[in-house]
Amino acid sequence: MQRTVIIDALRSTAFDQPINVRGWVRSRRGNKQVSFIALNDGSTIKNIQIVVDLTKFSEDELKPVTTGSCISATGILVPSQGAGQAVEIQLTELEIYGTADPDQYPLQKKGLSMEYLRTIAHLRPRTNTFGAVFRIRHNMTMAIHTYFHQHGFFNFHTPLITASDCEGAGQMFQVTTKNLYNLKMDANGKIDYSDDFFGKQTSLTVSGQLEGELAAMALGKIYTFGPTFRAENSNTPRHLAEFWMIEPEVAFIQKDELMDLEEDFIKFCVRWALDNCMDDLEFLNQFVDKGLIARLQAVVNTDFVRLSYTEGIEILQEAIKNGHKFEFSCNWGDDLSSEHERYLVEEHFGKPVIMNDYPKDIKAFYMKINEDNKTVQGTDVLFPQIGEIIGGSVREESLDKLNAEIERRNIPMKDMWWYLDTRRFGSAPHAGFGLGFERLMLFVTGMQNIRDVIPFPRTPKTAEF
Ligand code: 4AD
Ligand code: MG
Repeated sequence: MQRTVIIDALRSTAFDQPINVRGWVRSRRGNKQVSFIALNDGSTIKNIQIVVDLTKFSEDELKPVTTGSCISATGILVPSQGAGQAVEIQLTELEIYGTADPDQYPLQKKGLSMEYLRTIAHLRPRTNTFGAVFRIRHNMTMAIHTYFHQHGFFNFHTPLITASDCEGAGQMFQVTTKNLYNLKMDANGKIDYSDDFFGKQTSLTVSGQLEGELAAMALGKIYTFGPTFRAENSNTPRHLAEFWMIEPEVAFIQKDELMDLEEDFIKFCVRWALDNCMDDLEFLNQFVDKGLIARLQAVVNTDFVRLSYTEGIEILQEAIKNGHKFEFSCNWGDDLSSEHERYLVEEHFGKPVIMNDYPKDIKAFYMKINEDNKTVQGTDVLFPQIGEIIGGSVREESLDKLNAEIERRNIPMKDMWWYLDTRRFGSAPHAGFGLGFERLMLFVTGMQNIRDVIPFPRTPKTAEF
């Protein structure tokens, strides 16, 4: 018989008709007359109840039906007698696909810690929490593609292996086929890459922006959506070594329009979650973060604050004057740390902040320099609980100014001649940003650790699964 997915079975009104569902057993309980199997197939957070009449099935037949086992259940769909579900299935035919030894299956108990579940990341998608997180993750992917498609952006695929360091932070994982036990050095003791696979030193990309800018100078509005890699040794709840980034790049827009795009885009994604993921959000709101749904609704309905870095520093200094203690200093020119960002967003304003016009020395080389020659048109979005969720900027479109900045910073541009060609041939004002997909996921799910919103996290000293 053809399988019905449980999300459809639960909505069905084809009562007294045969139906077949397949999935993993969440629990089995009952008494001498009747046994109840809670079955889940991942299509929804909700289980369907299978009712087993023990005059028709023997204990022996039911013995393999333990938590974690996989079964196919055929029966008659009926309105449920009990509370908690609209329909249930009276079992007529049972097939066991795979057993799960109760003495060994790790997901027997409820309330397992997030830390423990990370050690069984190959099984954790079968829990309610991770099922919800990964269904929402899919929905956020759809929201992102939908938003850009509806707004006339083209999805553009940028390379993962690259010879350039976009952010200039030197946090790149090298890619090589060289024999690390027998490295050839040149006369200066430097590694000779001429005989390496690509004939030069290459790494995994930290950002698709540079290639994205090339595309925007031809297609007008593009976005990338792919994995990015950072070898930063930050063991925090907000950093991954492998994360997904969405990077739109748009020709002919200025700073205000860039900030409009950042705000509109995030709100669209959050609204999508509220419109399409309510069952999962309600579960997370109940068991993970009681303020979640209210916070999502608040963000959709609020105007983000737009604040220059200089104004931000003034507010922080005022707070210090009034007795607020920060661990790190915050004088003009300092990179704000997350305690500063969180003070502004959570305590001072109580809503998201788009901070802009940063000192040029704490930002990347490609940002457009303001008239004051001290600040650049960066536009980062800071979120409650998360801190920086978007990093963006207007790009410097003048070849002379860009070259001067590259020289000032001593950036090796030998392998980036192609990037400078955008400024040489038909340069145009343009701007873009990068949204950290897992940071968005943290916000939308209320999960506390970034390791718990990606299926198989890569962090310092962990690359299991
Ligand atoms: O601020 P970042 O470094 O900006 C860029 O890479 C630009 N090239 C983007 C652009 O303008 N096209 O990174 C962008 C975002 C951050 O705001 C943050 O959300 C996320 O990427 N991010 C990380 N997420 C998880 N783990 C990490 N280690 C991250 N580093 C950055
Ligand atoms: Mg940044």
